Amino acid sequence: MDISELVTTAQALVAPGKGILAIDESTGTIAKRFATVNVEPTEQSRCHYRSTLLTTPGLGEHISGAILFDETLRQATPDGQPLVRVMQEQGILPGIKVDKGAHELAGHGGEKVTEGLDGLRERLQEYYALGARFAKWRAVITIGDGIPSSACIEANAHALARYAALCQETGLVPIVEPEVLMDGNHDLDDCFDVTEATLRSLFAQLYDQDVILEGVVLKASMVISGSDCDERADVEEVAQATLTCLLNAVPAAVAGIVFLSGGQGDQEATAHLDAMNRMGEFAWPLSFSYGRALQQQALKTWAAHQDNPEPAQQALAHRAKMNGLAALGEYDPALEK
Ligand code: 13P
Repeated sequence: MDISELVTTAQALVAPGKGILAIDESTGTIAKRFATVNVEPTEQSRCHYRSTLLTTPGLGEHISGAILFDETLRQATPDGQPLVRVMQEQGILPGIKVDKGAHELAGHGGEKVTEGLDGLRERLQEYYALGARFAKWRAVITIGDGIPSSACIEANAHALARYAALCQETGLVPIVEPEVLMDGNHDLDDCFDVTEATLRSLFAQLYDQDVILEGVVLKASMVISGSDCDERADVEEVAQATLTCLLNAVPAAVAGIVFLSGGQGDQEATAHLDAMNRMGEFAWPLSFSYGRALQQQALKTWAAHQDNPEPAQQALAHRAKMNGLAALGEYDPALEK
């Protein structure tokens, strides 16, 4: 294992003012996103959309890496440029989603465990050869009546740690993503407790599996009120609770923490990240790895102007810039105009 390569990649992913673009929606998820803008989901339309995003001029200024789905790593732009090469030329690290999705956890109604460890070593070796330098595995934890169970938290943490160890063996930086879902009417305190328990379990498992934390990026969900909560916490409260939780549960050696957007509005996700970065300097850089909060506007614009990439690319470049500023604690909502 080349530890210095892992550390260099991990640090590049969270370089100052940069974050990660998540465009790794599975075939089913991208079909749902396309349905919202009335686009037929075909291999060609997915490739056209993702090529449009990845060929955005100057994207590498605020985007350090992009997480792709298996299909995209093998695709080329309509004029024949392999997407991996397009990314490399922009200084954007290619990443790959490697889990096989969240499935019902046996004996635990309403809870899920992420699968995909079988044959993972061989898949990772192929992805590295194709140019990927980091990977992602997402676990989902649901807050509800009597859940999450410790069985669900531990099963997911164990799988994340086994995935992370395999990634490092292959030279890929593992992004470990234990997402506590925003769905539900729980309050900020409930989310805090579940997030803290999940992170503590994850780092215990990473330690057991001898994963090198300097070569890991944590993709965290923010500590936030449930989407159906009657009184939702404001930006300062979310930022403070998230930081307190992370400071309690995430070792300082971790290379960086990037957030998912998880259903937050575009500007809301930017404002939360900015507020945290204004609260001080921490052992780990705090940045973004947004999917929806980077793509929402670009997707709508692309669907409406498929013959002209520029408006969609401008929409993506704008959100990347806003979030790049938030990663430095320098975002100003007036810039949205
Ligand atoms: P969202 O930012 O849309 O939650 O997606 C991030 C992601 O990659 C989830 O795995």
